[in-house]
Amino acid sequence: MKAIVYNGPFDVSVKNVPDAKIVRPTDALIRITTTNICGSDLHMYEGRTSFEEGRIFGHENLGEVIEVGSGIERIKVGDYVCMPFNVGCGFCENCEKGLTGFCLTANPGTAGAAYGFAEMGAWEGGQAELLRVPFADFNCLVLPSDAQEKEEDYVMLSDIFPTGWHATELAGMRPGDSVAIYGAGPVGLMAAHSAVIKGASQVFVVDTHADRLALAEKMGATAINAVGEDAVEKILALTNGRGTDCGCECVGYQCCNRHGHEDNSATMNSLVASTKATGGIGVVGVFIPQDPNAASELAKVGKMPFDFGSFWFKGQSIRTGQANVKAYNRQLARLIATGKAQPGSIISHRLSLEEGPDGYRHFDDRDDGWTKVILKP
Ligand SMILES: NC(=O)c1ccc[n+]([C@@H]2O[C@H](COP(=O)([O-])OP(=O)(O)OC[C@H]3O[C@@H](n4cnc5c(N)ncnc54)[C@H](O)[C@@H]3O)[C@@H](O)[C@H]2O)c1
Ligand SMILES: [Zn+2]
Ligand SMILES: [Zn+2]
Repeated sequence: MKAIVYNGPFDVSVKNVPDAKIVRPTDALIRITTTNICGSDLHMYEGRTSFEEGRIFGHENLGEVIEVGSGIERIKVGDYVCMPFNVGCGFCENCEKGLTGFCLTANPGTAGAAYGFAEMGAWEGGQAELLRVPFADFNCLVLPSDAQEKEEDYVMLSDIFPTGWHATELAGMRPGDSVAIYGAGPVGLMAAHSAVIKGASQVFVVDTHADRLALAEKMGATAINAVGEDAVEKILALTNGRGTDCGCECVGYQCCNRHGHEDNSATMNSLVASTKATGGIGVVGVFIPQDPNAASELAKVGKMPFDFGSFWFKGQSIRTGQANVKAYNRQLARLIATGKAQPGSIISHRLSLEEGPDGYRHFDDRDDGWTKVILKP
């Protein structure tokens, strides 16, 4: 089969690799029809993780079941399914509680597994013609009869829509709250879409890319075209100096300060400053324990100069982590089916697998208009 393989920093190519296949009775084999490139892929693409050369990218996957193992009870050949980026077992202590982003079975020794992901187990990615899905009765969300018609919306259930929703949950957002979302990439835009659907009174989206901010405005958010202290000042001015009820980090450890230099503390310190006293902060942007190529000594070991004094004094709270996609994907699918959510509206490019490497280059450069790239193997 053809797949997008990581060859080293800034280098991916389409290669012929052995076909994915059923290995265990609880597996399913999926013919991938849509698979997305994600901001998480970019951390790996840039060589800023331990992702191994020769492995296949792709954790945002949707397709048709073409074969099931002998132990499969629920899903059937012909079903259109969307897979959470997390691989969960369904029976460990964390999966039982809905914390499928922290499965204890799928990547022994670590809490959490995913397809085509650094430090998340050996599961291969779905930027390929075929994908092996383990614990498939648990991991496949079977889509309704409009699966193909709304494929570009449903594929966002694999990651960014639930992740954006999760950011607002981690922040403790309630109807009527104001929220500041840092990052207008696909995840930040989905957090904005979620906040609007959930009835936020004010939604601010912070970034410096005008094309992305324009999409945020289309979703009903107020664009803040600035970063760092400048963004904080604007948000405070628009909330009578009080700050927002809550905030979301949707950028991650490669965030930039207002001079455009990478500074892993930039967004967290802005969030402390622009969130009201006692407000909640939800962090879905990725931060990692080791980053050997980081700009500062602290960042190399996953630490940052965090304004803990202000954070404590304001009595704020922070919640973090990978999104537990299965905790949300069924309900969010219903919002799509009934037309109340259109997460596919942020797609800017639909490419073939062969065009994937080009898509990586443009999306990684944050080129104007390259908001979300989907691949059609
Ligand atoms: N927790 C999870 O489950 C989960 C799931 C998916 C993605 N992620 C992570 O979410 C993050 C965002 O993903 P994405 O696909 O939207 O990525 P992206 O890289 O396309 O978007 C990030 C955006 O943040 C902006 N930015 C940089 N510095 C900023 C600052 N100081 N203030 C405001 N904006 C700033 C950039 O201009 C860019 O538009 C990544 O770290 C990704 O790995 C986490
Ligand atoms: Zn993703
Ligand atoms: Zn589990």
